[in-house]
Amino acid sequence: MARLIEKLLLRANRWHSVRSYNAMVARHRRKYPNDYDMAMFASIGAISPEEFVRQGDGHVAVLRHHGLADGMAIYDLGCGAGRTAMALQRSGWQGSYKGADIVKPLVAYLKSKCPDYDAIVHRDLTIAAPDGSLDMIFHWSVFTHLYPEECYLYMRDSFRALKPGGRLVFSFLELEDPQHHGVFRNRIKAFEKHGWANTLDTFLHRDWIRFWAQDLGFQDIAFTDGQDTTSHPAFWQALVTMTKPA
Ligand SMILES: C[S@@+](CC[C@H](N)C(=O)[O-])C[C@H]1O[C@@H](n2cnc3c(N)ncnc32)[C@H](O)[C@@H]1O
Repeated sequence: MARLIEKLLLRANRWHSVRSYNAMVARHRRKYPNDYDMAMFASIGAISPEEFVRQGDGHVAVLRHHGLADGMAIYDLGCGAGRTAMALQRSGWQGSYKGADIVKPLVAYLKSKCPDYDAIVHRDLTIAAPDGSLDMIFHWSVFTHLYPEECYLYMRDSFRALKPGGRLVFSFLELEDPQHHGVFRNRIKAFEKHGWANTLDTFLHRDWIRFWAQDLGFQDIAFTDGQDTTSHPAFWQALVTMTKPA
């Protein structure tokens, strides 16, 4: 019996983000009983429809800056409610889009808004694409909710799924940025009050990301500060890009 309980607890850990994100969506559906759009926007962290659109447009600007072009095959890991997908569609970008997320209603919402795009529920720490098939993999505010080991596994499989010369671009939280301190302080408050927080918020170090990237064979690893507006609107989270050697 003890072994069974231990096994079940381990399995529950494995699904930590599935549990916390489904609970998040359920909370926002209760909060906005008559506004399904807003429930979806809030579930992925947007505070208004306008912000959802503005942030999505910012995502596309980041992707363009990092080489997004028509005809590419791209993969949106943790695609959520389709903030980036809808912005890509609005921008007139032409290519093959695939989104993957762990929460069914979010994926269903994306598909209802972007019927020509592919989106799936996928709960393994893998990229659901054949070897060497993708020009670009990106994810926003996803490693912010995963354990470092889960991040590494996703990066390892991204390397596999990218074409030679393909790019990985993602955002992350870092305590070096004073603008991210509020997230940490809120977590401290939650732990003081409840001994736990509803979702995991992970802070990564650039040194760790560089080490993982080099360990996996990526090259041209470059970081952008969250407040940097040189080439696109400020993202707020820090960004990193890296390339699979051609
Ligand atoms: C803050 S939201 C961002 C959504 C989307 N990337 C965007 O910027 O609009 C984080 C997303 O990551 C997804 N997620 C959480 N854990 C995940 C995992 N292990 N694998 C893939 N996606 C995950 C959540 O379901 C949620 O949609």
